Amino acid sequence: MSKRVYIFDTTLRDGEQSPGVSLNTAEKLQIARQLACLGVDIIEAGFPIASPGDLQAVTAIAREVKGVTVAGLARANQQDIDVAWQALKQAEQPRIHTFIATSDIHLQYKLRMNRQEVLEAAAAAVAYARRFTSDVEFSAEDASRSDKDYLCRVLEAVIAAGARVVNIPDTVGYAVPGEYADFIGYIMENTRGIEKVIVSVHCHDDLGLAVANTLAALGAGARQVECTINGIGERAGNASLEEIVMALHTRRDQLGLETAINTREIYRTSRLVSTLTGMVIQPNKAIVGKNAFAHESGIHQDGVLKERTTYEIMKPETVGISHSNLVLGKHSGRHAFKERLTQLGYVLTEEELAKAFTSFKNLADRKKEITDHDLEAIVEEEIRQVPPVYTLDYLHISTGSTVVPTATVGLLKEGQRLEEAACGNGPVDAICRAIDKVTGLSCTLVNWGIRAVTSGKDAIGEVTLKITLDGEKVVVGRGISTDVLEASARAYLNAVNKLLKEGENNHGHDHH
Ligand code: KIV
Ligand code: ZN
Repeated sequence: MSKRVYIFDTTLRDGEQSPGVSLNTAEKLQIARQLACLGVDIIEAGFPIASPGDLQAVTAIAREVKGVTVAGLARANQQDIDVAWQALKQAEQPRIHTFIATSDIHLQYKLRMNRQEVLEAAAAAVAYARRFTSDVEFSAEDASRSDKDYLCRVLEAVIAAGARVVNIPDTVGYAVPGEYADFIGYIMENTRGIEKVIVSVHCHDDLGLAVANTLAALGAGARQVECTINGIGERAGNASLEEIVMALHTRRDQLGLETAINTREIYRTSRLVSTLTGMVIQPNKAIVGKNAFAHESGIHQDGVLKERTTYEIMKPETVGISHSNLVLGKHSGRHAFKERLTQLGYVLTEEELAKAFTSFKNLADRKKEITDHDLEAIVEEEIRQVPPVYTLDYLHISTGSTVVPTATVGLLKEGQRLEEAACGNGPVDAICRAIDKVTGLSCTLVNWGIRAVTSGKDAIGEVTLKITLDGEKVVVGRGISTDVLEASARAYLNAVNKLLKEGENNHGHDHH
């Protein structure tokens, strides 16, 4: 049996179904490009019929991201498949991913169809999808709670209809590893034609077992895994890509399997997804959490200094976490700046470079030692900005324990300076109100969080916040500065600018 495991990334489809997450097309494209750099085999770009925004994003990714299979989700009916194909047809390697539930609970209460009807719908959907492309994947939703013999019959029917990949999801995260491995093993043994297709798994993390179940299924013969960056996804999320990949990498001795992932891109991808979705990574998250490679206890620190492998099973560099060296300072020139960014793996246009260099110089005025993490934060700020309608010209704040917090902001719009002042419950509230007065929008701040990019009193603070205008659509904004209130103002403006941009594009969003 082949040792190669195919990585099917569904960050942009199942991951985007995380509560409170909504990415626009430009953001999805950035993530898709980064997933291609990471070396995933398949990018599930979205669910084209779910909303006009999904359709637009899948179309853009199919057209622009090359060297990787691009999949689009469709229920088992012709209209969904037509729309999915519409979005995918420009892809270099398009895949239609069609699904229908096979458990009795879903048949009875959700689909109101009998087993025979579902089997026929599944086979008909695959046959229909095959008219457009030879790469068709079929998923039996809620497979792990389905009658296993019935599931085998459905899989036989879709294989006969031309499916190339059959996916056996643990949709509700109910399985435990030994049971799930046996389940996959049973399907491998009892489904005619299964040797002609790739068996895939897709595990949810409701019991915290998604990665364990995925690895167990690989042991039983599955060769495609569906996963997301940082494990984001519906409810408790999906199996985390970085955990699966690093388990396979670190324990090759036990598992004996390979992926095509460039592990050094893991950290960068994780940060990008966290920033754009606004989903913060818990510090103790395996592989990509802030503490994943931090040694706190004296005994551990002593051990690592004597010999790294005493307490470290992976090198941080393997997942792309650079040791934050003292790199640049106030006197560093453009050439050194560009050189370091290239070493860090950034490819910037001249215009992006010029903007990033200006931010670097501004930062160098306030902060003596500029580390790799600072540089990453600057570049990410520059390349992720939507062309702004409003930019921050100045900010003045008066606050303290005995005064009413007041903010005065000056914003630039098409070269014109617009100024307003407002009071608030706190300084951040005052800033948001002052900005609202200028823009004429009345946004609600849904949440606000801060992360120190590096350590030290002069560290850059990165504020990520979410705002909403109508109570439904939530937009994420991000801003950095050594001053946390300025970072807040920048983050709020970033979100407002995105909101205004999206208003123009009329981006819809609803899920199945
Ligand atoms: O969890 C699930 O079953 C899914 C399918 C659509 C593959 O997301
Ligand atoms: Zn799922």
